[in-house]
Amino acid sequence: MLIKIDAIVREEKLEDVKKALNDIEVNGITVSQVMGCGAQRGYKHYVRGTELDIVMLPKIKFEIVVSSEEWEAKTIRAIQEAAFTGEVGDGKIFSYEIRNAVKIRTKESGYDALQSKFK
Ligand SMILES: Nc1ncnc2c1ncn2[C@@H]1O[C@H](COP(=O)(O)OP(=O)(O)OP(=O)(O)O)[C@@H](O)[C@H]1O
Ligand SMILES: [Mg+2]
Repeated sequence: MLIKIDAIVREEKLEDVKKALNDIEVNGITVSQVMGCGAQRGYKHYVRGTELDIVMLPKIKFEIVVSSEEWEAKTIRAIQEAAFTGEVGDGKIFSYEIRNAVKIRTKESGYDALQSKFK
């Protein structure tokens, strides 16, 4: 089973999360700078008691594809511990099944595409 994990974390947690993922030896990471809001909608603008707008705050998105539910759990745990502050805005982690992965160099697909020969 191929599972994708998307984690949206605080900008200042980039290095901590990267280190945590490196420590558990995931075989690939994609990182992007994104904008988003959660339950607080960034923060709210009020003018004379009327809510005007939502605000998108800069966040960091990690994308990791793993090849088992064990790796899914391990990866989520590592991100959760590294990204935690306890304050609102710590972020969210989403995981879902994906259909396929293809390693362009070797033409391997599925499980094989995600294995590392460098261990
Ligand atoms: N339901 C969602 N769908 C897509 N992205 C989300 C969702 N909830 C949160 N995010 C992303 O995660 C970022 C951080 O969300 P945040 O941690 O503020 O969630 P929250 O539900 O408001 O939790 P908290 O109350 O702890 O702040 C958002 O800026 C957004 O990019
Ligand atoms: Mg929030």
